[in-house]
Amino acid sequence: MDNRLYIFDTTLRDGEQVPGCQLNTVEKIEVAKALELLGVDVIEAGFPVSSPGDFNSVVEISKAVTWPTICALTRAVENDIKVAAEALKYAKRGRIHTGIGTSDMHIKYKFNSNREEIIERAVAAVSYAKKFVEDVQFYAEDAGRTDNEYLARVIEAVIKAGATVVNIPDTTGYCLPEEFAAKIKYLVEHVDGIDRVTIATHCHNDLGMATANTISGIIVGARQAEVTINGIGERAGNTSLEEVVMAFKSHKELDIQTNINTQNIYRVSRMVSSLMNMPVQPNKAIVGRNAFAHSSGIHQDGVLKNRESYEIIDPKDVGIDENSILLTARSGRAALKHRLQILGIEMDKEHLDKTYEAFLKLADKKKEINDDDVLMLAGKHHLAHHRIKLDYLQVTSGVGLRSVASVGLDISGEKFEACASGNGPVDAAISAIKLIIRRTMIVKEFLIQAINRGSNDVGKVHMTVEYDGNQYYGFSANTDIVAASAEAFIDAINKFQI
Ligand code: KIV
Ligand code: ZN
Repeated sequence: MDNRLYIFDTTLRDGEQVPGCQLNTVEKIEVAKALELLGVDVIEAGFPVSSPGDFNSVVEISKAVTWPTICALTRAVENDIKVAAEALKYAKRGRIHTGIGTSDMHIKYKFNSNREEIIERAVAAVSYAKKFVEDVQFYAEDAGRTDNEYLARVIEAVIKAGATVVNIPDTTGYCLPEEFAAKIKYLVEHVDGIDRVTIATHCHNDLGMATANTISGIIVGARQAEVTINGIGERAGNTSLEEVVMAFKSHKELDIQTNINTQNIYRVSRMVSSLMNMPVQPNKAIVGRNAFAHSSGIHQDGVLKNRESYEIIDPKDVGIDENSILLTARSGRAALKHRLQILGIEMDKEHLDKTYEAFLKLADKKKEINDDDVLMLAGKHHLAHHRIKLDYLQVTSGVGLRSVASVGLDISGEKFEACASGNGPVDAAISAIKLIIRRTMIVKEFLIQAINRGSNDVGKVHMTVEYDGNQYYGFSANTDIVAASAEAFIDAINKFQI
């Protein structure tokens, strides 16, 4: 068996489905190009029938990248497949990814159907997709909870219909590693024609076992791993690219090779985190802020004597250069530019000047500026293009007092002011903004996070605001968390048409 593992990245499809992680087409192209440089084999660029935006992104990504196969998702529905084929017309190598639920649960409740009919629909979808492209991947949704014997019948039928890749998703993240490995092994041993196709794993992380399940599946014969950067994805996420790639790089005895240029991992991780406003948990394997930080004396001593006493991966192998992580108020524009480039951000001069100004202000308040701060500063300029901007904010609050906020907004150049009280400073600021905007807006989710540590730290605010039946996501970061909250609220408001 060939030991080359194909990396199928679905950050721009499964990852992008996460509320609040939506990217525009330009941002998706930026990520797609970074994935190409990283060396992924397949980029799942979207679900074209789901929206004109998704359709357009598949078209533009197909034009923008050269080497990876571009894949478009569909249901087992003729119109989905036709639209996906249309979106892929500029791809140098295009793949249609079609499929249907195969667990009894999906068959009964999702499709109100039966096992035989599902096989017919699966075969019809693959045969139809074959009219447009040679490379057709089939997914058996909820394969993790599908009876193995029936799953083998489905897979055999779609291979006969021309599928080139068969994807075995653990859609609900239910399987245990041994169970998932047994499923793949069963298919390897019982499906006619399986040796002519590639078996793919697509594991979700609901029980924290996505990476373990993926590795187990590959050890017994799967040769495509479906992954996302930072493990983002529906609910608890998907298998993370960096974990799978580094697991095989570290365990040479498994003799599995990928095409990933691992030194680009950190850069792409931070780019995705920044564009999607999705923080990377500090203790995240491989790319978390603490992944290579040694705090206990015993560990520090050990690492100084010989790095391998406590580290199985050299941080440089994933693109972390510890010497250049911190910038200070004494760092020049060139140092900032260099750091931005390492993080995958190119800026024109005017933009860099503005970012550098903001950098100096922040460096005055915070002694050390790290990568997360730099990314936050780079994102700041987006606010400058907003139609509605925060002009000023003044809040008084204290124990035993009701908080009061005065807010000034600039709406397309016109100035508005309001004053309101609330049960805390954030509530008062948001109430004052509502007095100016005068629409029914409900804050559904509100999350404040410190980027690093220390009371002088920058706070990131993620907010979801409901307006007119839809939910809009807002984000900001500021050393003043009340200001960050007001800015995040305004960021969300700028996303709806009022
Ligand atoms: O989790 C899943 O089953 C999926 C399929 C659409 C491949 O994302
Ligand atoms: Zn999925």
